[in-house]
This record gives sequence, C-alpha cells and structure tokens, in this order.
Amino acid sequence: MNNGFSRQDLKQFAEANRTEFERVLSEIVEIPTVSVEPDRKSEVRRGAEYAARLIQSCGGQAEVYETKGHPIVYGRFDRGEGYPTITLYNHLDVQPAEGDDWKTPPFRFTRREDRYFGRGTTDDKGPAISALFGVRYAWERGIPINIRLLWELEEEIGSPHFEDTIRANARAFATDSVVVSDTVWVSRSRPAQPAGLRGLQGFRFELQTGRTDQHSGTAGGAARNPVAELCQLISECMDGKTGRVKIPGFYADVVPPSKKELEDLKKSGFTVQGFKKDHLYKKLRVEDPMEVMKRIWMMPTFEVHGIAGGYQGPGVKTVIPPKATAIVSCRLVPKMNPRKIVKMVTDFVKSKNPDVKVSAEHALAAYEGRTSGPYADAIKEAMKFAFGKEPVFVREGGSIGAVLSMEKVLKTPVFFLGLSLPEHGYHAPNENYDWSQAEGGMAAFARYLQNVAQLGR
Ligand code: BES
Ligand code: MN
Ligand code: MN
Repeated sequence: MNNGFSRQDLKQFAEANRTEFERVLSEIVEIPTVSVEPDRKSEVRRGAEYAARLIQSCGGQAEVYETKGHPIVYGRFDRGEGYPTITLYNHLDVQPAEGDDWKTPPFRFTRREDRYFGRGTTDDKGPAISALFGVRYAWERGIPINIRLLWELEEEIGSPHFEDTIRANARAFATDSVVVSDTVWVSRSRPAQPAGLRGLQGFRFELQTGRTDQHSGTAGGAARNPVAELCQLISECMDGKTGRVKIPGFYADVVPPSKKELEDLKKSGFTVQGFKKDHLYKKLRVEDPMEVMKRIWMMPTFEVHGIAGGYQGPGVKTVIPPKATAIVSCRLVPKMNPRKIVKMVTDFVKSKNPDVKVSAEHALAAYEGRTSGPYADAIKEAMKFAFGKEPVFVREGGSIGAVLSMEKVLKTPVFFLGLSLPEHGYHAPNENYDWSQAEGGMAAFARYLQNVAQLGR
C-alpha cells in the first residue's frame, strides 16, 4: 500500500484549493445548524440543502433523505458496479453556542492566521469538508472505487432517527465499509486511531414542591426546597469531589483494561500537563496520567450538566423556589447496558426521593471497534502518509450514536479517521479548527481511498 498519490502533489492541491476550502467552511459554519433548538429547524434544513448542493458542485450526486426529525444528506460518487464502495460519515449539526465566553460571534466564521473560529468548525464541519476535498482529489484522478458521503444532522441529539432511516433505505446505503471522521487526537503530535467510544445515557431529574415562589422568611423552615433536595439527591448518586458513583451496582459490568490496552495507553503520548492546557484546567480530580486516561476513556461517569431552579439575578432574593431541574448523564463503557442503567438510576432516585420525576434521553451503548485488519491498516498508513506519524490506539471518551447503528444495519465494520485536536474545543466557546489539520486531512482521506481501492472487493 504505497504506490500512488504523492504527498507533494496533495500539498499543492490543498494550497491551490485553500481559498475555496475556507469559503465553503465559512458558508457552512454560518448556517446555525443547532439540532437541539426547535427554533433552528429551518436552519438545519438549510444546512442540509447547502451540503447537497456542495456535493453536486464537486461532481457527485446528492439526495436529502427525510427522517422523522432533521434530514440526512447522502452523496454518491459512482464508479460503477464491481468496484468497492466506501462510506464516509460526518455530522453537520452542531451544539448550541450560548454564553458570553465567545471572543468572536459563534456563527460568524473568523479566520486568524491558520486557525478558523466558529461553532462547528471542528465538530464536525471542518473534518467533513476536509474529507470532501480529499474525495474530490481522489475522484478527479479516477480512483476505482464508489464513494458515499453520509452526513447526519441529528448527531448532537443522540441520532434518534438515524437507525430507522438507514434501515428503511438499507439497499441505497449499502457499503463495504464505513469511516467516521468525528473524533479527537491525543495531541497535535499524536494522531489517534480510536478502538472504541463510550456510550451515553442522559437523564432529566425534575422536582416540584410548590406552586410559586414564597417568602423564605414566612415559609422557610417548613417549606420543602426543591433545589436543596436535588443537590442532596445528586450527592447521594455520586461523590462530587472524586467522581465516584455511589449507586449500587453501577460499576458491576465494567471490564478492566487488558494488558495490551494499558500498554497502548502508556505509549499514547498523553500528558496531564498538555491535557490541562488544552482544556483550560488548573487542577484535576487526579494527576496521575494513567489514572486520567482511564477516567476519560475507559471508565463510566455520572456527570451533572446543569442544575436550574430558583433565583439567578443580582443580590439575594429571599424566596423558596417551587421547582428545580437537574440535567445529568452517564458515560458508559463496553458491556454496560443503557436500559439497565436507566432502571438502576431511576430506582435509586425513587428510593431516595420518590417525588423526583426522572426522564431518560439519548440511550447510546458504547462501541468496541477493531484495530487490526486491512481497513484499520489502510487508515494507519494514510495517517502516517499525511501527518508523518503513526496513530496511537486509544479509546474515545465521547459518543456517536450513528456508529452502532451503521454496524448493525449496514452489517459492516466502522473505523475512525478523526481530525480534531483537544485544543480545538469541542462543544466549548471559541471552538476552532486549523489549516494544518485540514490540509493533512485532505491528504489522509485521498490516500485512504486509494489504499482501499487497492484492496479491491
Ligand atoms: N464528536 C463527538 C463525539 C466525540 C467526543 C468523539 C469526544 C470523541 C471524543 C460528538 O459530536 C458528540 O459530541 N457526541 C455527543 C452525543 C450526545 C449529545 C448524544 C456526546 O458525546 O456528548
Ligand atoms: Mn462530533
Ligand atoms: Mn459533538
């Protein structure tokens, strides 16, 4: 797997197309495709339609598939029957971008030297457009392979309609293998080839103990306080300082890492100092690198995303609020069953505070991927070719709902070729992507397609 596209020629292609790449990324980042916000429904559709036209302008065919929620964009570059078919998955929906910590407006594409700022630049529009430019390069040079682009617009809400839609259209979506480009490297100098993803089970806890705000001087002492009760409940679920989950049985199905996995961690090049710098932390729960890696990639968690209720304005308003909400989730690791976790958490909450209403959302099991075989080797070679470094095997701490669905419905292995860096700030304010990852990404995808073409069917 080595005769073929030269690194030099791909560099020239990228440089010659840089203005075009930046124009496209800028246009797509400026469409606020926030899938979780009902008010943005038409923007999400506009994003899908833009993406379909973009694929057409690169010489492919594109269709927008309807789902019960946001649409799916499917692009095809058809060489013909008898050639292998490879599918590249990305998502074009993004997280919300509220808050005052943005230095530039989140839905205005801002370039500063080689860095691109805006919501979705790295998660996952930048990688999607980089892959597309790699496809264009390979396609225009006559690569003997059918290429499919599967672009989802509901990833950030747990892919609720993805599986049904690909199942209903399984013939159209048939493929020999899938590559997902939606994961993060260990650091800029350490490309990663993830061997799996954590799963996710989300929850909302709601507690209503009154009808309206009441004066805490007149009712306080006797009235129940829903914010305080939810705080207590959360601390019964977990130790806030150590992160240890206190729900009985929570860790029962966790499989300890194998010797090989522990060795891969040791070789991964992860440093606590780099991690802190990338994520803007001064202090962590633990400082030992092995312990940090296990915690972010291999252990389940119980996390509080937000707790709302009561007075949030200036000064002290002395009321007792009538209700409170906590939004929490558990990251899951292989062998943990989301349904079992829902029952375990719900039963536990009810046993501690029967008045709390529990609703479950986003049920995603963890994914165990493969790190060997011809497709995995093709990715490894392409990464080395594009970035000059072999990827390290790690597991990813995040979740991508579509991955298990594609494996199940399309009956094909799923591999990862991610381009994001920790410093790019997934889901954070000032999310960014950069030209070096884009340029290398184009080269990696072109090379990967060529490697797979050489495998034949
Ligand atoms: N790209 C991420 C998944 C990811 C995160 C992979 C970190 C590797 C490292 C994806 O867009 C994402 O954010 N997924 C959500 C899914 C959830 C909202 C259902 C997640 O993991 O929280
Ligand atoms: Mn993503
Ligand atoms: Mn995301």
